[in-house]
Amino acid sequence: MSELDQMRETALAAIASANNADAVEKLRVEYLGKQGSISALLKTLGKMNPEERQTEGPKIHGLRQAVTDALLARKAELDVAALNAQLAREVVDLSLPASSAPKGSVHPVSQVMDELAEIFADMGFSVATGPEIEDDWHNFTALNMAETHPARAMHDTFYFPESDNNADGNRMLLRTHTSPVQIRSMVEQGAPIRLIAPGRVYRSDSDATHTPMFHQVEGLVIDRDIHLGHLKWTLETFLKAFFEREDIVLRLRPSYFPFTEPSVEVDVGWEEVNGRRVLGGDGDAPGHGWMELLGSGVVNRKVIQFAGLDPDEWQGFAFGVGVDRLAMLKYGMDDLRAFFDGDQRWLDHYGFSHLDQPTLSTGVGAKA
Ligand code: DAH
Repeated sequence: MSELDQMRETALAAIASANNADAVEKLRVEYLGKQGSISALLKTLGKMNPEERQTEGPKIHGLRQAVTDALLARKAELDVAALNAQLAREVVDLSLPASSAPKGSVHPVSQVMDELAEIFADMGFSVATGPEIEDDWHNFTALNMAETHPARAMHDTFYFPESDNNADGNRMLLRTHTSPVQIRSMVEQGAPIRLIAPGRVYRSDSDATHTPMFHQVEGLVIDRDIHLGHLKWTLETFLKAFFEREDIVLRLRPSYFPFTEPSVEVDVGWEEVNGRRVLGGDGDAPGHGWMELLGSGVVNRKVIQFAGLDPDEWQGFAFGVGVDRLAMLKYGMDDLRAFFDGDQRWLDHYGFSHLDQPTLSTGVGAKA
């Protein structure tokens, strides 16, 4: 074996057995540093005659290349091993029980949405969602609110700049209500339909009872021969289950919404208990009264048509109600703004345990 081959074999063996970065660096200096053995060999090239240099040059350069490659490869190997060791050392066991506070809780809005899903699932409703960044066709036009319809102006809409118009040239906006999910669902699923659509909505409005973002739940039933009686029974069944009282009374008042015809405003009877108005009792008795709770009606023929269905075949009813409002009425909060402050003390007080899933068998009203 030649002297060079011997050197190569020794060097590669030493590199392979170096077991940390310092050892690799020491070997690098030993072979390739200014005083290194391979550097010394390279220097001998200058003193050789041309023929010798032609045969020895490639061998010496080859040796240097092989040693350089081996050093780099070994260093990379050690780096990976060090990282793996660190990862193994710093592993976090997510299955360990949390030792102490802080503990999380379920926000009343989430709780109420879960309760709604549970109650309506029992009546055969599914839960639908739609985009919060909506276009004005779904939010207004298809709901029978033409460009010049006064209700459009009443919604205090957050619009996006016209440069953000979608491919159909429609203006983009933050949806002002959950009603556009009616349109999307009819377009996507056709009929029949039985759904609720809870979610965030946005209006440029802010005081103790209005926040720029709030929550609504939309209800939509499309089928054959649907009439107002179905609507009233559904709402009554829902409100009795939600407020956990059998003596919930409803009063349907004629109203106007562009997307329903006829439209009704639904009032619920309340009575005073310990100085608080709670839902239940008899709205007309002395000391009792009515409060307006939600909007609803028979889906306007034009809306069914906009959504691509035949209004002579399919009819339906729809309703929309504020989820925050439902939570306030049921759980006794009086300032809507506190819902969105993220104050830990408020959440500790009004939040719900994540173990307390609403079920119909135990009553949907989980207690914090
Ligand atoms: N979208 C209405 C609003 O935000 C609420 C509403 C009223 C929804 C009547 C409906 C309905 O589905 O039929 O004020």
